[in-house]
Amino acid sequence: MKRILVVGSGIAGLIAALELSRKHAVTLVTKARLEDSNTRFAQGGIAAAMFSDDSVAEHIADTLRAGAGLCDPQAVEVLCSEGPRRIRDLVRLGVAFDQHNGELARGLEAAHTRARVLHAGGDSTGLNIELALARAVRAAGIPVMEHTFARDLILRKERVAGLDVLEADGALHELYADAVVLASGGAGQLYSHTTNPSVATGDGLAMALRAGAQLTDLEFYQFHPTALAGPDTFLISEAVRGDGAVLLDANGRRFMQHIHAGAELAPRDVVARGIARQMAAQNGLPVMLDATSLGASFLARRFPTIDAACRTRGLDWSGTPIPVTPAAHYWMGGVRTDIWGRTSLPGLFAVGEVACTGVHGANRLASNSLLESLVFAWRCAELLLKEDVNEIKSAPFSPFITGAKEAAVTFPLSPHLSANNSEPVSRQALQSLMWNAAGIERTASSLGACAKQLDRWRPGGGTIHDLETANLLALARVMVAAALARRESRGAHFREDFPETSTGFQHSLVASQEVANTT
Ligand code: SIN
Repeated sequence: MKRILVVGSGIAGLIAALELSRKHAVTLVTKARLEDSNTRFAQGGIAAAMFSDDSVAEHIADTLRAGAGLCDPQAVEVLCSEGPRRIRDLVRLGVAFDQHNGELARGLEAAHTRARVLHAGGDSTGLNIELALARAVRAAGIPVMEHTFARDLILRKERVAGLDVLEADGALHELYADAVVLASGGAGQLYSHTTNPSVATGDGLAMALRAGAQLTDLEFYQFHPTALAGPDTFLISEAVRGDGAVLLDANGRRFMQHIHAGAELAPRDVVARGIARQMAAQNGLPVMLDATSLGASFLARRFPTIDAACRTRGLDWSGTPIPVTPAAHYWMGGVRTDIWGRTSLPGLFAVGEVACTGVHGANRLASNSLLESLVFAWRCAELLLKEDVNEIKSAPFSPFITGAKEAAVTFPLSPHLSANNSEPVSRQALQSLMWNAAGIERTASSLGACAKQLDRWRPGGGTIHDLETANLLALARVMVAAALARRESRGAHFREDFPETSTGFQHSLVASQEVANTT
């Protein structure tokens, strides 16, 4: 029996903890309540080839196409072929997917050639998964440390040996383990507009960075095209467009069909850029999402969460188009792993959004993220169930980038600051800088100015909020360095000064405090 720490309580952390607890002494560490995570906000659903008119091969092809040449084919094959089996496991664990005429119901989302997105509770798929798995974790008696912030990884003899944690009452502890599984999610809080909850501050990624793990493809951050515009941003699922809603400009005219043959269901990066440009052309006014043709009773039944959110904000989306804008949604880059969740650091594993397994490439296909978390958390647990402690300690790391020629671009993680140019960082200023300079469209000049400002800021304070902001600052620096180094446009990374895709760039790598581009 091994001692294993799992960090994070979204679908990836809960699945890893449940599976690992069959044989090991698992403790789950999470910085809020067990049921708080980004997973609970996922609306559209979880994609899998479960239907007779669909196939694993078609799901693979759609995923590879969306990934714009950067997916790892082996990881995508694992994702799509193991997906259906893992969906059946989710059902066994208590997730009740919606049914239609006695079969699983399914939705269509952008860049899928088939309707294959399973949903639960209409548009509260993530919440249903989160609550079912959290119930299962409690029922299994797995020790859970809630309101416990993972500050740093403990390294002993060049391997990860545990976690340094801070509890809400200020108490510090060192937790030792044979393995640490990071399932700590993404970092939507890097940006001023995001669909992510306040807990999404990239703490696991930042810890892995400080510990010297390899991070990859950090410049690829996905912006969801449609969040409700206004101070209280709220995701409006792509499934709404999948069911026929359309986007309108300030004059009430559709515009997406002039940009891409897929119109409102073009790949996510294309729709997000199309909306951002349309907003710029209309003095920053949001575009409108017109779902009125779907009818009040359908909208209330199929999208009860969005329906309620609109009504709470005084909007009747069944009668009037609603204002929408893009918002930061999902980080494709992350801690580089192989197809078993192994990272470059012995003893450290990563699953879910914190990881970069290679399945999303430059642009994630809608509803593949819950699936990735499920499939790869399961695989990581399988690996740790099979091996003994000694084998784990020497587990070979075979990541998806092999044989690449790497040209290093030096990147100092701790910039040299003088007393004059060192200002305390504010979370809000950081988010707004990132939104304006390192968002949907970037240039060398916006990124260069952003990098300079990021270097002027210094983290400070010891509260959990301060530590999260320090993590965001560290991640912003590496993301901007990676975005500057990639002088091409591909998937979610769009450089106005290099609008074409170049064969000269493949994956980027942050390792040993440097950003390297593999060519
Ligand atoms: C959505 O419901 O539009 C989000 C789905 C996803 O990001 O995969």
